[in-house]
Amino acid sequence: RTPKIIDNFGRPHTYLRISLTDRCNLRCFYCMPEEGIELIEKPNIMTLEEIIEMARTFRDLGVDTIRLTGGEPLVRKNFDFLVEELSKLGVTLKLTTNGIVLDKYLDLFEKIDLRKINLSLDTLDKAKSVFITKRDYYERIMANLNRALEMDMDLKLNVVLIKGVNDNEINDFIALTKNKNLVVKFIEFMPFKGNKWDWNKGVGREEILHTIGSSFGEIEELQNPKHSTSTNFRVKGHKGSFGIVSTITNPFCDDCNRIRLTADGKMKNCLFATSETDLLSPLRNGEKLDDIIINAIKSKKHSRDGMEVKMEEEHYEQNRSMISIGG
Ligand code: GTP
Ligand code: 5AD
Ligand code: SF4
Repeated sequence: RTPKIIDNFGRPHTYLRISLTDRCNLRCFYCMPEEGIELIEKPNIMTLEEIIEMARTFRDLGVDTIRLTGGEPLVRKNFDFLVEELSKLGVTLKLTTNGIVLDKYLDLFEKIDLRKINLSLDTLDKAKSVFITKRDYYERIMANLNRALEMDMDLKLNVVLIKGVNDNEINDFIALTKNKNLVVKFIEFMPFKGNKWDWNKGVGREEILHTIGSSFGEIEELQNPKHSTSTNFRVKGHKGSFGIVSTITNPFCDDCNRIRLTADGKMKNCLFATSETDLLSPLRNGEKLDDIIINAIKSKKHSRDGMEVKMEEEHYEQNRSMISIGG
């Protein structure tokens, strides 16, 4: 299908991230405010049928990749039905999960060929895991990670680096790539409502590369897939590789191809966009969404206002919390 969702900078949007729920079984401090968020009320959440309808609409407009996110997407009721229906749309399906209940779905993923799984895992230390997530699921997550590797899933680990918390584990994660066929994705800490963002707590791309280079020696640059959010590398001789998502120090908006749909059916042009387009109300009113979507993308900005290291609090406090965007 020819892409029909094209913004004013000529960027075709072919990658949709759908947040299935704003609920989560973890409480990571960088993702949500300590006091929690005001949860979206049930009637305002897209039903499974509405999600499928939205996905079909976007596919017909040229979307060829759909990533399911949350909160935690696997806590959505009847997730198995949903993902099986979505797998019939002929798009590449991907998933971002915290891994707690992944074991319940791995056989199904194998069956429908959903192999691209990004697993949020910020630490390899149990006590630290409890500190970051405020819950105690470390063993379950690690067991599920290993199970996914045994099944040869296409696994990426998402590591949000925070100074004084997990920045001393960069090389432990790299060590995992020596013999395991996985990608470790280091992510620069980003600002969202209520996450007390402070770039002094962030770790930037150069620092990450320096840390790895000092311990492991030669680092090869890899070819980055088009529209990749990460720049990708491999320590010479390692089986797996690593990537860096450098939103803060080296934004990569030039060929952005992403659209986001929140669990309450709002289209977001950018992770940092504060204005949203309601698609759920028109869907429920029986209106056709094509023109609404095609017009909405025209207001997409090129990038987040130059995206400097100093992002102003008054701006990101207007955005949602990360937990209700889904990354
Ligand atoms: P791939 O499809 O494997 O490239 O995954 P991804 O990195 O796009 O998705 P994932 O859900 O694993 O997110 C990893 C990190 O990348 C999260 O911190 C996301 O917020 C961030 N991310 C994803 N898409 C974008 C984007 O369009 N812009 C920015 N700035 N960050 C993004
Ligand atoms: N900054 C950067 N990445 C974040 N994520 C959640 N909150 C933040 C943040 N403040 C990441 C998680 C998850 C992905 C969807 O978004 O690691 O894997
Ligand atoms: Fe953690 Fe993801 Fe849940 Fe946020 S949505 S609290 S990053 S598991």
